[in-house]
Amino acid sequence: MNLAEFKCEAWLNNWERLATYDIAQSTVEAMTVDEILKLDSEAGERLWRDLRHEKLSYGWIEGSPRLKTAISKLYEGVDTDHILASNGATGANFLAILALIEAGDHVIAQYPTYQQLYDWPESLGAEVDYWKVEEEAGWLPSLEALKEMIRPDTKLICLNNAAQPTGAFMERKFLEEVVKLAKSVGAYILCDEVYMPLDDSLDRVAIASLYEKGISTNSMSKTYSVPGLRLGWLASQDDDFINEIRKLRDYTMISTGVLDDALSAFVLEHRDQVLARAKGIIQENLTILKSWVDQESNVSLQAPPEVSLSFVKLETIPPEETEAFAISLLKEKGVLIIPGNRFDMPAYARIGYACEREVLEKGLALLSEHLREYKK
Ligand SMILES: Cc1ncc(COP(=O)(O)O)c(C=O)c1O
Repeated sequence: MNLAEFKCEAWLNNWERLATYDIAQSTVEAMTVDEILKLDSEAGERLWRDLRHEKLSYGWIEGSPRLKTAISKLYEGVDTDHILASNGATGANFLAILALIEAGDHVIAQYPTYQQLYDWPESLGAEVDYWKVEEEAGWLPSLEALKEMIRPDTKLICLNNAAQPTGAFMERKFLEEVVKLAKSVGAYILCDEVYMPLDDSLDRVAIASLYEKGISTNSMSKTYSVPGLRLGWLASQDDDFINEIRKLRDYTMISTGVLDDALSAFVLEHRDQVLARAKGIIQENLTILKSWVDQESNVSLQAPPEVSLSFVKLETIPPEETEAFAISLLKEKGVLIIPGNRFDMPAYARIGYACEREVLEKGLALLSEHLREYKK
């Protein structure tokens, strides 16, 4: 199989352990086990006591009833039979694309976003057309372009909402237009929704609630702030699709494990508190990021909605030197960012600002220093 290197993951694997100030990650600062249990001290103590005596069997194969019930509450029109747990959203995307795509199939993928959404179908032999995002359009792709790209044999449209690495978000009206086009040719829509924004003024809808051939993937990793629980899921109203995933799960994972399931269910049952914590971190740190951008003439930013991603333009770094700049920033200042070339967009950097406040402030100050000193 001709599988491309997953460029942003490879960058992190290579460099993240060397960082003193890691402002590259896209998760909201992770919660500790103690923080999770204290979401409700009494229930948390009970859970911990129960877990000590829990047999580490495979547990519930598709996800426990508690977990599936908590997940189904995130959707309209998707019951627990149409939700399957996976090994993270990465596992969910992997299985969804594997279930739907064969060599020669036509796929349209929002690009650039999360590389898995176009390079994985391409590795399976699909003909993948890139639906390009446009900076001038707030990093969204154009519906006109999609109209021109869609074909009678288009099998799948892959979306990332909100999108890596820019945070651009498609609201309901925009998605309804995408659904109309997909419906006209019977295409599935896979939408990776790990970065669903916390901004309540946005008209947010999951693709699985909007379209009978929509597939929502999501996980505990980003907004829910616990990437160490390797738990994601697929949600879809489409029986045939969900049954295909049931088969593939038996070949690839069996279950997500008793501990991840139990802790994830507990986090989702306390969703309001978890999201309030995430929103607090995102709002406070986004203010810090924006005021840094305002006073730093070497960068610019189209600010994201309340998601844990930002894509900052490095105005004074030659595009072909983006990665060299990021490596020297890490080696000389201890600050980790992801250079934009890892998303096929050199001259930018992904800054994951939803980290500890002190790390962000120090990281940005050192980034400013390095922008002034680089190659001087
Ligand atoms: C769009 C997107 N989907 C999925 C993932 C990984 O999710 P998980 O940790 O649930 O596998 C990432 C991580 O960066 C991501 O950006």
